[in-house]
Amino acid sequence: MPQTFYIETLGCQMNVLDSELAASALKMMGMLQINTPDNADVILFNTCSVRQHAEDKVYSALGRLKNWKSEKPFGILGVLGCMAQKDQNQIFKRAPHVDFILGPGRLDILDETISRLITEKIKPAKTVCVSLNRTANSHLDVLDSFQQYNPARIVSRESAPPSSLVRIMFGCDQFCSYCIVPFVRGPEQSRSPLDILAEVQHLAKQGIAKITLIGQTVNSYRYQEGERSVRLADLLYRLSDVAGIEQIDFVTMYPTGRQHGPSGIDDDLFQAVRDLPNVLKHLHIPAQSGSDAVLQRMNRQYTAAFYREMADRIYATIPGATITSDFIVGFCGETDADFEQTVDLVKYCRFRNSFIFKYSERAGTKAAELYEDDVPDEVKKQRNNRLLAVQIEISNSITTQER
Ligand code: SAH
Ligand code: SF4
Ligand code: F3S
Repeated sequence: MPQTFYIETLGCQMNVLDSELAASALKMMGMLQINTPDNADVILFNTCSVRQHAEDKVYSALGRLKNWKSEKPFGILGVLGCMAQKDQNQIFKRAPHVDFILGPGRLDILDETISRLITEKIKPAKTVCVSLNRTANSHLDVLDSFQQYNPARIVSRESAPPSSLVRIMFGCDQFCSYCIVPFVRGPEQSRSPLDILAEVQHLAKQGIAKITLIGQTVNSYRYQEGERSVRLADLLYRLSDVAGIEQIDFVTMYPTGRQHGPSGIDDDLFQAVRDLPNVLKHLHIPAQSGSDAVLQRMNRQYTAAFYREMADRIYATIPGATITSDFIVGFCGETDADFEQTVDLVKYCRFRNSFIFKYSERAGTKAAELYEDDVPDEVKKQRNNRLLAVQIEISNSITTQER
């Protein structure tokens, strides 16, 4: 009888992909994936730390598994992902029945960790393996401790999703003041274009026709090939030629940044999107706020006027282009007037859709250190609903136009 495993995923597409790769690795070890935790021999939680709500969900799910563990003393319970990196040993304190914790930069040892725990068959010693703390260690040591995880994956024909995620970058160096991601996912690292191309060819051979390239700031993609610096636009040209690939898109982008200088996202990227028939004419570029004062406190390195100009440039360059965005409402010190500027930005840019989040303070970030989380939850909720209503009206009118 093979060992069975159940994996539950929270968070962004990075985690969705990591879970898919981890599941594929465990299947290659001869294990069987099942869809409910009750009868599983191994239960894995791939966790997210981006907002408090995501963490609370994991702690309550872990709490519910106490019974499972008492009925299955040799069952193995593992916590992976961003909370594993952020909370490390604290997870054992709140959920002592957890057996092991692996950060997102240490998934390379997932299969050996599980094999060892299965074969030990004694009350296993608690295992923690995470990457180094970004602020307390040298850059090279930190980089080394965040291992890239790209094992070969089996895509089974029957269960193949119409689209596969393909990672092109790890980590983030933007350090938006509210965000935990640079700490839990480590320094920005771009994957080699040859590896990415080989992976896409491999997926295409297995029948995958649509791919989504993922990274925290994919427009920062840069890989030195001898004299040549390969950028996202170059990568799109190479991947769009792969036989069998009918559709490519990519998430997510940063409106500007150190890597791009004051002019923001390179025009050659917009031109590549326009010119390559199998690249979706759609860009996800989170604006986060329409107020310059808020953007500055968020350490977002652009102004609302800059963002508007970029949206104009996109619509002018790519016929039929659509843009989507993320917004945080109720960030520290956000006034009614600041919020109205966000509403104005949404109306001006006519986003196809926006993902709206209430600000959630994250310990260890600059915002938690420097600013007070002073917008009452009730006001955050009202702003969330108001912005959503404005966005829905725009989304509906875009859909009507398309009809
Ligand atoms: N790298 C991506 C986003 C990663 S997190 C990017 O910059 O585009 C996804 C979204 O979660 C962010 O765009 C932001 O809108 C939201 N977010 C991040 N930290 C948050 C926090 N502390 N509170 C509320 N929302 C947050
Ligand atoms: Fe977080 Fe900003 Fe990096 Fe996105 S760009 S992951 S919001 S720090
Ligand atoms: Fe969450 Fe980690 Fe993604 S914190 S949003 S799962 S990178």
